[in-house]
Amino acid sequence: MATALENVLFHIAEDGIAVLTVNRPKQLNALDVRTLEEIEGVLATLATGSPARALVLTGAGDKAFVAGADIAAMSRLGPVEARLFAELGHRVLERLEALPIPTIAAVNGFALGGGCELALACDLVYASERARFGQPEVALGLIPGFGGTQRLARRVGLGRALEMILTGDPIDGKKAKEIGLALEVVPPEELLELARAQARKIASRGPLAVAQAKRAVHAGADADLRVANELERQAFAALFGTQDAKEGMKAFLEKRAAAFKGA
Ligand code: CAA
Repeated sequence: MATALENVLFHIAEDGIAVLTVNRPKQLNALDVRTLEEIEGVLATLATGSPARALVLTGAGDKAFVAGADIAAMSRLGPVEARLFAELGHRVLERLEALPIPTIAAVNGFALGGGCELALACDLVYASERARFGQPEVALGLIPGFGGTQRLARRVGLGRALEMILTGDPIDGKKAKEIGLALEVVPPEELLELARAQARKIASRGPLAVAQAKRAVHAGADADLRVANELERQAFAALFGTQDAKEGMKAFLEKRAAAFKGA
């Protein structure tokens, strides 16, 4: 299944792996309202009964993942419009984070500002040797507006987040891996296949378990430990009511591969 949109390419392959490519290479895939709305449309499709088992996000061309929010468009905004723009960006990234399927950012180049924030809303982040991550907004007299002040600190800790956000300096993939922002750094030609292979591996696991695990990790990260542990207990117990858990444990005991049905 393939859908042609103006600023986004979207495709679900036969293996169930969906690939969303932000496609404005002349603007280094910068996010304007239209692009964000197109991403939101794709996410709505994925959230409502899509056959996709995992989502890989990347950027078109060999230079950028996403170089940020569209600065030309932002330069025309006043405070009220900027607030609406930030609300749109936050909504899209919250929808991305809330998808029940795993999401993987394949960062093939610049992931700056809103681009770094887009990667941070994904479950896993892999980088090519060409990747550059950064929150350069202070150089524009701005701050991150799509969740960077919060998600970056949650992923890499306050110190590293503050260093990136206050200096605005980009970091390369090696540094991003060192601080836990990227999980692996590979040659550019290997990036998409790494992301797809990890997506396929997760897609081969019990999909209800994957969804519950993801939810427990994300929701738990924002709760205190007692509440978070209760979320885990609830999800663990609920899975015992599924066919997939019965099948998964039975298959282990019978020494065969499990055939999960997502039920
Ligand atoms: N918005 C709009 N256009 C952008 C863009 C952006 N974020 N980033 C790059 N472009 C455009 C450039 O204007 C340029 O267009 P023209 O060819 O029409 O001049 C084209 O993409 C190529 O860019 P460069 O010529 O600048 O390429 P370069 O290789 O010299 O530099 C770069 C690459 C270092 C990424 C540089 O383009 C850059 O610094 N971009 C801006 C990065 C940035 O500040 N991002 C944060 C935006 S604010 C934000 O995202 C707020 C938020 O949190 C929501």
